[in-house]
Amino acid sequence: MTIQASLARLADMFAYPLRHSHYVELVNPLWTTHKLMARVISVQQETDDSRTLTLRPGTGWRSHRPGQFVRLGVPIDGQRHTRTYSISSAPNREDGCITVTVKAVPGGRVSQHLVQQVQVGEYLPLGEPQGEFVLPESMPVRPLFITAGSGITPIMSMLRNYVQELEVIPDSVHLHYAPHPREAIFGSELAALAASQPHYKLQHIYTREGGAHFNAAQLEAVCPDWRAREVWACGPASLLEAVEAHWHAAGLDHQLHVERFHAPIAISTEAATAGRVRFAASATEAASDGVSNLLRIAEDAGLNPKHGCRMGICHGCDTKLVSGSVRDLRNGTLIAEPGDTVQVCVCAAVGDVELAL
Ligand code: FES
Repeated sequence: MTIQASLARLADMFAYPLRHSHYVELVNPLWTTHKLMARVISVQQETDDSRTLTLRPGTGWRSHRPGQFVRLGVPIDGQRHTRTYSISSAPNREDGCITVTVKAVPGGRVSQHLVQQVQVGEYLPLGEPQGEFVLPESMPVRPLFITAGSGITPIMSMLRNYVQELEVIPDSVHLHYAPHPREAIFGSELAALAASQPHYKLQHIYTREGGAHFNAAQLEAVCPDWRAREVWACGPASLLEAVEAHWHAAGLDHQLHVERFHAPIAISTEAATAGRVRFAASATEAASDGVSNLLRIAEDAGLNPKHGCRMGICHGCDTKLVSGSVRDLRNGTLIAEPGDTVQVCVCAAVGDVELAL
């Protein structure tokens, strides 16, 4: 055991039933070890409805890989909400900070709060970097990036990392969709990269100014060798569905990496039944609207459930149903047998429900 660890253990004995880290938090929230916090260092308006927050993570932060996302806690009116955002900065910045770039979603309370309200100096709970939407670490690739709207954020981290680490962006093609130039997040930075990096070919497509949405002819024109490239695509569901269908028809699904903001939802939300969710092991209860996934409800209630992908893939969030029933939001399957496994990231409560969590 190191001297620091021994001292921390000794301090914990005096701080019992809390840990010394809880008292340290009162002095500087970034020094705590029982949870990870970040301080808002600066905010920068990107477009009318989006802005970049520069965050200084506290003790315990480990650097991300370009393309990964983080969970951000956002206190609003005394209640903690949690959302995930792709990191838009390159890893290992000299100042030790990271950036997230948030677009205000109409009706989205948390995104609007981050874009309009959050102030420099605030402390926000931060999660570990996560996600598999990353470039291979060793193998060189010839990427094709397809992005729309705020789907640019993980790709921006990759491009900035290329420039920071290699000074050169390798042979890459980038299709980026935005309604208008003024709504293109990082529009001028991307244009500057395209002008200074000879191997980076950028095609901006402005869909409300005559530009077509993703289609086969457009892809062929912009990137004739698309079949030979590995693809990273991020954006709204309609774009990703079109891209997936195109690569699937070509038998090239294995070359496609897709990052969604949400798991695909297949069920109608009109028949949702609101109720109460009880998390048995945590002795916590929260309201459910019958639509929100149970992971988000748990996190908003201040819990920190284990999870991974938040997309229904990894089973890192599995728990057991104690009573009541839940619905799988991807396909409508009802899970109502006590003891059944529930993937909380893609299931919503149907009325009152109790989970082992
Ligand atoms: S977090 Fe991966 S399946 Fe729920």
